[in-house]
Order: sequence, then structure tokens, then C-alpha cells
Amino acid sequence: MQFSLIIPTLNEADNIDPLLTSIFSLNDLGNQFEIIIVDDHSADGTPDKIKQWQRTHNVHLVERNAHQPDLTASIIEGVAVAKYDVVAVMDADLSHSPEKLAALIQPVLANQYDITIGSRYIPGGDTIGWPFYRLWLSRAGGWLARAICDVNDATSGFFAFRKEFIHRITDNARGYKILLELLMTGGNQPLRVKEIPIHFRNRLHGTSKLSLSHHLAYLQQLIILAGGTISFHTASRFAIVGFLGVFIDVFIFQWLTGQGASLATAHISSFIAAASFNYTLNSKWSFRLHHAGHLQWNQFSRFLIVGIFAMLLRGAILAWLVYTWNIATEWAIFPAIIATAIVNYLGSAFYVFPRTKPA
Ligand code: GDD
Repeated sequence: MQFSLIIPTLNEADNIDPLLTSIFSLNDLGNQFEIIIVDDHSADGTPDKIKQWQRTHNVHLVERNAHQPDLTASIIEGVAVAKYDVVAVMDADLSHSPEKLAALIQPVLANQYDITIGSRYIPGGDTIGWPFYRLWLSRAGGWLARAICDVNDATSGFFAFRKEFIHRITDNARGYKILLELLMTGGNQPLRVKEIPIHFRNRLHGTSKLSLSHHLAYLQQLIILAGGTISFHTASRFAIVGFLGVFIDVFIFQWLTGQGASLATAHISSFIAAASFNYTLNSKWSFRLHHAGHLQWNQFSRFLIVGIFAMLLRGAILAWLVYTWNIATEWAIFPAIIATAIVNYLGSAFYVFPRTKPA
């Protein structure tokens, strides 16, 4: 079998020998494959272990020099130096059984599938030895991913694919979930994806590097892939603009009523003035990174639709809290405003200023 096996490592010194011994003792892989280990400045002697194998086997060490370790970036660097057209990726900590490699690679080599996934969440697959919270988080990540791709284990780290797909993944790809990015590369032509059941075993040596920030990055990645522009950057600017918009709204409302305008005229005029102000600033500032910043009528109408919907929702929440729950109006307004702000922001991120999909 001709393929390149990419193994990312970060402090895996105790796992290198058992892993490579196990892979090289397999008979069904033949001897025409290469192993590329991409190490991210491990401090526990991992590179030295790999260098020993490099002398006697078809093993290559790629030592990264980035300021920050990153799993996806490591895999991309590994693929960049891969010799073969078919690439497989697996963890170094023996969570993925090397015995499953042939079953994973064969369908891609035979061009029956574009991507094969070692799946824990289809019949015949499972996780062994994971604490409950890990399993729960992993399942939750998988369920969320189902909203954008029809795969049972989109967070698996054990998969094979044709090398050319790596060029199609977005610039935002980072963190743990490169597979999710790969699964989204099909565009109009759906990828042929096959899941193969695996037993995922919790590591015996070393520790997991998965942290809360990886989970949050994964969530953000899902949102990005779904077309949204949610981030701290856009949310904080959107909040500032919204806050300024309230002043414009109140100022114009007071001024018009002071000039003798009817309540309806003052209400509608101040709403449209504030919405125009908010739309302009959001387009040119809050969501500037994702858009050219040109004002467009259809975008403005979408902004108005979201605003009107949020206003109706605010009224409905207010009425529900006041009349059904007997909450005082001066308190009920707060959850109503918060819900409106969230709906406004989500509407802007997904509907008014969605992420433009890469060509
Ligand atoms: N080069 C590099 N840089 N390697 C990394 C980095 C990094 O920043 N972070 C982790 N790794 C390597 C580890 O050394 C290991 O070989 C593999 O990536 C998996 O990392 P773990 O931190 O052990 O992951 P886990 O066991 O908790 O499992 C989770 O991530 C896996 C990613 O492949 C789970 O979500 C699994 O589903 C998933 O397979």
C-alpha cells in the first residue's frame, strides 16, 4: 500500500516506541508507506525517540517552529511534505488501533471513497476508558456537527483522505477538528465518505492536550462552517453600535415629539433612523472583516427584517413575563432586551452579514 501516515505529536515520548513497533509489525500494510511525525516542540524527548526510528525505518520527523502549537497546522505541514496521494492521520497515544489502518486506507486507495473515518459512534465502534465528561463532550461535538455534515463521528482524529483535499480547507482551520474542515470541502459535489467502526482506547501514557479553548474554538469553527460570523470581535462591536443606536433612537424620538409629531411618526422615524445608523456602522465596522463594507439595499432590508422580528419578540416576551408570570414591567424589560439583543446579533451574523463562502 502506498500512503503517507501523518502522526502529530506533543509530548508523547512514552508512546512513540510502542506505537511505531506496533505499526511496523503489521503484515497487511506492506513496506511502501511512509510515516511523517510532526512534532510541536515537545519538551519530553519525543523528537529524540523519533530520530532513532528515522535511522532505520521510513520515518520522517518534521519539527515545527511556530510560536504556538496547533494540531491542525501540524497535520497540514505533514501533508505538505507527504510523498503519496493518499494520506492517513492518527493520534500518537495508541488511542487508535494500527490494526485498523488497512481498512481505513484501502477504500481511498481504490478510489471508492474520498474520505474514510475511524468512527466510534456507529455500530461496532466504541470508546473504552474515557471518563464520562469526555465521552459526553465528544458526543455533543458530534451531534452539533450533524447540523452541517452527515457523519456520526466528525471529531475523530483517525481518518484517511486524498491529499488534494487539504488545499481546499479554509484559512481559519485550526485546533483539533481538521476532519470537520475536510468534510466541508466538497462544495457542490458531495464527498464520498465512509465510516469504519473503531474501538477508541483512552491513552495509558501522557496526558490529553485538549483544553477548554479547543472546545470553544471547535464551536466557533462549526459556526463559521455553517456560514455565521460569530466571534468576540463582531459581538463586542455589535454591542457598542447597539448601545449608541439607543441614544440616536431616544434623541430623535424626543426631538420629533417635541416638534409636535404624532406618536406613530416619532416612533417609526426614530426606529428607521436608528436602524440605518446601526446598519451603516455594523456593515462598515462590526462585520467589516467579513464584508467589503459596501452599503447594500438588500442587506439593509434584511437588517430591518431582523430588527422588526426582534422587536416583535421583545413585545411577546414582555407580555409573557408581565401577564403570565406577574413580573413587574421594570424587571421584565431586562430579559426581554437581552433576548432581543441575542436574536439581533445572531440574525446579523447568520442572515445579514453571513460569512462569504470560499469559492
Ligand atoms: N503537533 C501537535 N501539536 N500535536 C498535537 C497537538 C499540537 O498542538 N495537540 C495534540 N497533539 C497530538 C497528541 O500528541 C496526540 O498524538 C494527538 O494529537 C491527539 O491529542 P490528544 O490531546 O491526546 O487528544 P485526545 O486523546 O484528548 O483526543 C481528542 O482529540 C483527538 C484528535 O485527534 C478526541 O477528540 C479524539 O476524538 C480525537 O481523536
